[in-house]
Amino acid sequence: MSWTKEDLQELVKTKLAGRLFIVVSNREPYIHISSGDEIQCVVPASGLTVALDPMMRACSGVWVAHGSGNADRKVVDAKNRVSVPPDEPSYSLRRIWLTKEEEEGYYLGLSNEALWPLCHVAYTPPIFDEADWNTYKKVNQLFADAVLDEVGDRKAFVFIQDYHLAILSRLIKAKNPQVITAQFWHIPWPNPEVFRICPWQEELLDGLLGNDLLGFHIGYNCDNFLETVNRNLESKIDYERSAVNRGGGITLVRPFPISVDFDRIARDAAKEEVIEEMERIRHRWKLDDEFIGVGVDRVDYTKGIPHRLMALDKFLTKYPEYQGRMVFVQLAEPSRVHIRKYKELNADIDDLVEEINWKYQSGGWRPIIYIKEHCSPLAIWAFHRLAHFCIVSSLHDGMNLVAKEFVSSRVDEDGVLILSRFTGAARELVQALLINPYATDDFVETIRKAVEMPKRQRQARMRKLRQSVEQNNIYQWAGNIISELANLGL
Ligand code: G6P
Repeated sequence: MSWTKEDLQELVKTKLAGRLFIVVSNREPYIHISSGDEIQCVVPASGLTVALDPMMRACSGVWVAHGSGNADRKVVDAKNRVSVPPDEPSYSLRRIWLTKEEEEGYYLGLSNEALWPLCHVAYTPPIFDEADWNTYKKVNQLFADAVLDEVGDRKAFVFIQDYHLAILSRLIKAKNPQVITAQFWHIPWPNPEVFRICPWQEELLDGLLGNDLLGFHIGYNCDNFLETVNRNLESKIDYERSAVNRGGGITLVRPFPISVDFDRIARDAAKEEVIEEMERIRHRWKLDDEFIGVGVDRVDYTKGIPHRLMALDKFLTKYPEYQGRMVFVQLAEPSRVHIRKYKELNADIDDLVEEINWKYQSGGWRPIIYIKEHCSPLAIWAFHRLAHFCIVSSLHDGMNLVAKEFVSSRVDEDGVLILSRFTGAARELVQALLINPYATDDFVETIRKAVEMPKRQRQARMRKLRQSVEQNNIYQWAGNIISELANLGL
């Protein structure tokens, strides 16, 4: 039996016993943007927010996040709150405002130029800047102030997300030790050799150990974290319980593989609107090809987009019979565009797409359709459903929810998933065709296998993949975290 929204609501009622439930993350789940005279509400391309929204719909409570939309201030009340989701208000989003300098130092700088490359083994060196670190600490304090204001004198459970807020739990507990905190680290945790180049490793580790519970996607990340603590910090580690004792405070360290709202995606992807959108897309992009591949990513150097394009290039050279018969559609969500590495990546991808298309195009056909814009979930489900195969070729990825979304949306039980071994998802989705994105020749053969796989085999694999995501859905992830906290007797 798989977990449902109702199961989670029941669990929250019984286990959290009237405690206020607060989620904190940098990225907000809904962004308000001015377009002409109108204000639009958009869902950002973030695995984190997409995964947590269904949990918040089930638990109610408050979500504290950075207000990053240009119309965000127009829709909040005096306490900077707005009810979301817009179509079915069920929880409150409290926005925090940051100046350009704060955003630069805390978000672009320390979070995404230092911690992001530090934790992902993608061969992009981190940049450590003392001024960014100071801004990071200052902004963590701003988040702490907002959380403490929401809590007031109530009993609360605060669920902190990701690497932007590594020292938040300590700052909250310094003012209100009654608050219970759990933190989920959505990206990988590297081994101690990699982590030790960070000049603020002790402060970061100590900050994370302010939590009662600390979650990672997979056991391997937990082991790396414990080993990093062991080498760097005065503490006692109980390996059997997977717990750290730092100055009397205990932090449990546990794996919780995150997932998606399988039922909701499956329901939405089966809607008539998606079928109509599929027709519109076929028409707009002239997709009459026999074989359609799809990739859906933020433009990020961890996602292995150039590796994928190079494999497709080689595939068309090695198997020229597919020229004119196969098209790969890459949906690319612009991301962190003010960071130099991302600007360079964007330019590299543009060049590669141009070169590959120039090399093979003939008549009206070209092999790559590169769509660099924000796509609605409806459009994404439509692209998924049109595709014979989907490629996820991350060089390193905590989980990768695109893989799970692709599987959930294939209500027709067809389609092949090509998935990087270096994603957390590869541990669960074993019926996918697993690849090493650096090994181009194997990658090419895997594309061929995907394209030539008989329908019965595709369906058998897809059925198993769907069972796995249906079983281990987002409600189970949230339920496991809440149950773990309840077991602590908190
Ligand atoms: C990853 C991170 C999230 C982040 C998302 C999008 O999934 O783990 O915390 O929200 O990327 O990145 P962005 O910088 O746009 O929030």
